[in-house]
Amino acid sequence: MRPFVGSLATTLSGPDIGLDLGSANTVAYERGAGLIVSEPSVVAYDNASDEIIAVGNAAKEMAGRAGARIRVVRPLRRGTISDFRGAHALVGRIVERALTARPRIAPRLVASIPGCATDIECKAVETAVRAAGARSRTYVPQAIAAAVGAGMDITSVRAQMVVDIGGGTAEIAIIAQAGIIRMLSLQTGGDDLDEAIRLKLRAQRFLVGPLTAERLKIELGYAGRPPGRAPLMVSGLDLDAAAPRSREVPETLIGEGMRDGIGHIVRGVVSVIERIAPDVAADLIETGITLTGGGACITGIAHEIGCRTGVPTMVAPEPLLCVARGAGEILGSATLLERLRPHADKLTRWYQSLRIGMRESYSP
Ligand SMILES: Nc1ncnc2c1ncn2[C@@H]1O[C@H](COP(=O)(O)OP(=O)(O)OP(=O)(O)O)[C@@H](O)[C@H]1O
Ligand SMILES: [Mg+2]
Repeated sequence: MRPFVGSLATTLSGPDIGLDLGSANTVAYERGAGLIVSEPSVVAYDNASDEIIAVGNAAKEMAGRAGARIRVVRPLRRGTISDFRGAHALVGRIVERALTARPRIAPRLVASIPGCATDIECKAVETAVRAAGARSRTYVPQAIAAAVGAGMDITSVRAQMVVDIGGGTAEIAIIAQAGIIRMLSLQTGGDDLDEAIRLKLRAQRFLVGPLTAERLKIELGYAGRPPGRAPLMVSGLDLDAAAPRSREVPETLIGEGMRDGIGHIVRGVVSVIERIAPDVAADLIETGITLTGGGACITGIAHEIGCRTGVPTMVAPEPLLCVARGAGEILGSATLLERLRPHADKLTRWYQSLRIGMRESYSP
């Protein structure tokens, strides 16, 4: 049950909502109440009318089965918006759902912006959020939201590292005093691992759909050594028989398929650490690396990153919710909000530096 004071304050002032518009999932989290909505970032269009006919879970179920009449689109690819109309529909629908059965006062909203977003994409998120009717809107870097959502005290002078592995991006950042000391935003994530699994099976003359590839990744995927789980029976198209078949897929095949993609992310983490100052390195030995995002759930990934960097690495609790939770929690701290809310000119510079991919320094 919610504490009385919290509910009263929320009733009087309206809800505080954190929004994570991710490549794979769009998540809304209300401060004091928890997760409100989490839906796949997918929309389905009717080809004849070009109208959006489904959003979220309903649209994702149509993926891989869409025919001439329906087209299923993921409006965000690799953290950037590729279909503006779909992204608008997604944000509108999620915020609308987040507000159902809430006090009729418009929410304050914090949305996270991925490090690889361009000015135009930031603007598109802003427009979509504005249209959704929030009372106030703030935008924070995704890595900062992930760190807050993972329970890290980002105002500490001690440097801490967060690695958010999502569907389309991997954001690697070192944070101290509510600012980003170093950051690398890679345009790779779980989607590429799914595709690699599909290609691995295709090389064995067996075609599976994107949902099956993702299921194999989640149930059999690993980094480092195979944990020894039983094979998984999946169905797809046998290319030799030119007919539908079911096959047992061993864990090692999935691990091999994922190896290069995981290696790319791990090398990204190593490359960020290689360039840090000695005092920051000393801090990291104590504060460690925290993994967030769906990719943090890959079996053995924390161990692999820990071994390759020599820095203790752990997975945040509920890693898929960290960014949205952190965005929502930021609204609870006036000091933090003030420090993170960049002034207009700083915001422009911040967006520009994000486009370079590697940020040298940032103090909000
Ligand atoms: N248990 C699991 N094991 C491996 N991967 C997982 C697991 N659970 C979810 N994932 C993967 O995590 C990804 C989704 O994570 P998340 O919701 O953090 O991404 P996102 O925020 O939508 O994307 P991005 O941050 O790149 O824009 C998907 O690729 C999904 O398959
Ligand atoms: Mg994400």
